[in-house]
Amino acid sequence: ISWLLMMSLSNRVTLGIYVDEPLLYDTFPPGFVWSSATSAHQIEGAWNVDGKGPSIWDTYTSQPGIVAEGATGQTACNSYYFYQKDVDALKSLNAEPLVVVAFVVVLIYDDVSLVVYCAGTIQVSHYRFSISWPRVLPNGIGQVNQPGVDYYKNLIAALKVANIQPMVTLYHWDLPQALEDMGGWLNASVADWFEEYARLCFTQFGDDVRYGLGVSAPDFLSPFNIVVAAAAPPSPYSQIWTWNVYLSSWPQFDPSPRQSLPTLRINFQTYSTRKSWNRLLNINWFFPGSDQIADADAAERALQFMGGWFANPIFGSGDYPSIMKLKIGEKSAQQGFNQSRLPEFTAEQKLLVKSSADFLGINHYTSLLTVNRPSDINDISYESDQDLYSYYDPSWYGSGSPWLKITPFGLRNLLVWLRDKFNDPEMIITENGCSDTAGNLDDMLRIYYYKHYINNVLKAIKIDGVNVTGYTAWALMDNFEWRAGYNEKFGLFNVDFSSPDLPRTAKASARYLAQIIRDNGFRT
Ligand code: NOJ
Repeated sequence: ISWLLMMSLSNRVTLGIYVDEPLLYDTFPPGFVWSSATSAHQIEGAWNVDGKGPSIWDTYTSQPGIVAEGATGQTACNSYYFYQKDVDALKSLNAEPLVVVAFVVVLIYDDVSLVVYCAGTIQVSHYRFSISWPRVLPNGIGQVNQPGVDYYKNLIAALKVANIQPMVTLYHWDLPQALEDMGGWLNASVADWFEEYARLCFTQFGDDVRYGLGVSAPDFLSPFNIVVAAAAPPSPYSQIWTWNVYLSSWPQFDPSPRQSLPTLRINFQTYSTRKSWNRLLNINWFFPGSDQIADADAAERALQFMGGWFANPIFGSGDYPSIMKLKIGEKSAQQGFNQSRLPEFTAEQKLLVKSSADFLGINHYTSLLTVNRPSDINDISYESDQDLYSYYDPSWYGSGSPWLKITPFGLRNLLVWLRDKFNDPEMIITENGCSDTAGNLDDMLRIYYYKHYINNVLKAIKIDGVNVTGYTAWALMDNFEWRAGYNEKFGLFNVDFSSPDLPRTAKASARYLAQIIRDNGFRT
């Protein structure tokens, strides 16, 4: 009977009707990585001090009418000065590697036994933060800004003291304006610029990070855990450059056979880097809007355009997804182009890109429903190339962001889909979280979100056998949410933006997450 009930519930889910799912009470594999994240432009502030160059987001937000209420990242959480507060906040999410010993006296049949209760195993917490390219290289290339380098060295040192391991994002959208002025990511030289920047990061921070990892979790012995958020096509090759930079910066490793570097973990993340923020490539889940085959195909297309665009070259065939090639090829011909608007990889590039990453990072927040719908043939855009329409089921719970509906079951579907399509890659959830607009400390909605999303990751691992090795909560604290300014709050910690000290205060969800981390899963 319960099986029948489950089946009928899951059918209802795929039809878009929200149901509260039963939890799986189990633990994550030993060594599972728990982390929380921020990004430079969203928290650092100090946008023009100590020699930092402007980024494209500094320029963008200085134009009127772009960001809600004219907000900017000029001060944000002021982490450039207050990074120790961030580390302190992280510490409270960190299950300290100490053993809490409690002596409990138990009376059994008038006998007195002494029970030693040991709580708290070693759980290593990570912090995913990004390096601001224009803070360390104000012009993108050339002169190094030492105070900027020192800032990250100090942050990494503070994390080391707190026994928290850095998971570094090299690029989280804040391209140096100086490079944008030369064409930005669409200039083919971007690979060289990025290489110079990545080389600087490896050289400056690699040692600190590496040696700070001496006691890391068994599955996470990376000398330097890089999360590379690289270019949208036509420059998906930055990944390769970073790989090469890594090898040449670490002569103590044998650079020839890749297999000899089992601990190297470089992740390629799927971000469009143009100013149009709606092109960011987090990976949603798309349910078919009906049981029609055309709508199932549309949902698959949406996934391939959003996730396969990057995952297929690296973890799949070494090329863009065939449905993308087909669709864009057909459209380009109909639109009078003499070749496809989708660039082609050479055979050599395919080989270089394929299998060039060690794990797949997943930023996931929400699901949508998708139906097949032909677009205007004259519309040349990423959206219209897909010939579909996506929407939210009105029964799904909302959040503080119009685009984020609470659909925990979508994450499990997504993980299984990625496993099946891209050769069972190792995956780390590099972002997952929920916004509200209140920022209140009693954030039951966020607790609900984390509970069910994390439980779906657990189900994907334990029931479906997906290889997920880590989970990162977005965000450590309320911050500058791009064009939504400070209105959409994702933090585990509240930031009081009205106080000059910008105090960080734990929300109920921070305590809830800390408990999951301590238990390494869900206890009955
Ligand atoms: C993805 C982005 O990486 C992050 O910067 C943003 O704040 C969250 N999504 C929430 O929108």
